[in-house]
Amino acid sequence: MGKKKDLQLMPTRVFIVTGSSRGIGLATTLALLEAADTVVVGVSRGAAAAAVASHGRYEHVTGSVTDEATQRAAVAAAAAREGTAGRIGGVVFNAGVVQPIARLDGVDVGRLRALLDVNVVSAVGLAQKAAAHAGATARFVFVSSGAAVAPYRGWGAYCASKAALNMVVRVLALELPHVVSVAVRPGVVDTDMQAALRLAENRDAMGQDNLDYFTALHADAKLLSPDLPAKAIARLVLNAPKELSGEFINWNDPRLESL
Ligand SMILES: NC(=O)c1ccc[n+]([C@@H]2O[C@H](COP(=O)([O-])OP(=O)(O)OC[C@H]3O[C@@H](n4cnc5c(N)ncnc54)[C@H](OP(=O)(O)O)[C@@H]3O)[C@@H](O)[C@H]2O)c1
Repeated sequence: MGKKKDLQLMPTRVFIVTGSSRGIGLATTLALLEAADTVVVGVSRGAAAAAVASHGRYEHVTGSVTDEATQRAAVAAAAAREGTAGRIGGVVFNAGVVQPIARLDGVDVGRLRALLDVNVVSAVGLAQKAAAHAGATARFVFVSSGAAVAPYRGWGAYCASKAALNMVVRVLALELPHVVSVAVRPGVVDTDMQAALRLAENRDAMGQDNLDYFTALHADAKLLSPDLPAKAIARLVLNAPKELSGEFINWNDPRLESL
């Protein structure tokens, strides 16, 4: 009885994870829920993943991250959790899309705009709303990509979005001194996004060499399990120190081992 009361009084750290329905976002949600005092509010267009749907410390907000009402709903759900005093511990900005895979000289600009909305604009919108509820040690972790700093044929929209996201992080680090903001490169990870890249229909845009490279990574079992970058992302959003604010960090950076 006494023990139950102690648990109820324990302060809770609440985190928002976008794109929590599968892939890296789901793995990050599971990694965060390993701690006893954490609550995760997940956001995706689809329903909550079965692995967390009935977890007592998981709450799902269904909607697109591009929708400001969804962003507000996620922040309100997090701030309303008992034991948080209305303060959010951190946000993992993970939701992302790679389509359209198309050359920049032929890309449909409407689809380009839609990608930038998901990968960049929505992150700024959610960051604005979450910042108002950020606790004293809040952390914003933005899931970026090696494509932020390396050009790939056919991925111009995606590369540009991740480069922009890295700069968003650098500016937020200056403008929000009460929040630690970091961008993370998760490596090449075995998710639906990688499966979408390997489709033969991408050959013209990506080139046969790139298509062969990503197909071989999968065939040779060289893709990372989502659990690996997820553990790094969870460590960052739980514990990233002020010194890392503004940085673009690899999932396997040795500085994360001690967090
Ligand atoms: N896999 C890789 O090799 C790799 C490498 C570098 C970076 N990344 C980055 O890692 C992040 C996660 O990618 P992943 O590989 O795990 O991809 P994934 O398996 O395709 O999962 C993407 C997640 O984002 C959600 N999502 C997409 N659009 C959304 C929207 N408009 N609103 C809300 N949620 C949305 C999806 O849920 P719903 O469809 O249910 O909405 C899903 O949960 C992305 O930012 C990606 O760019 C991945």
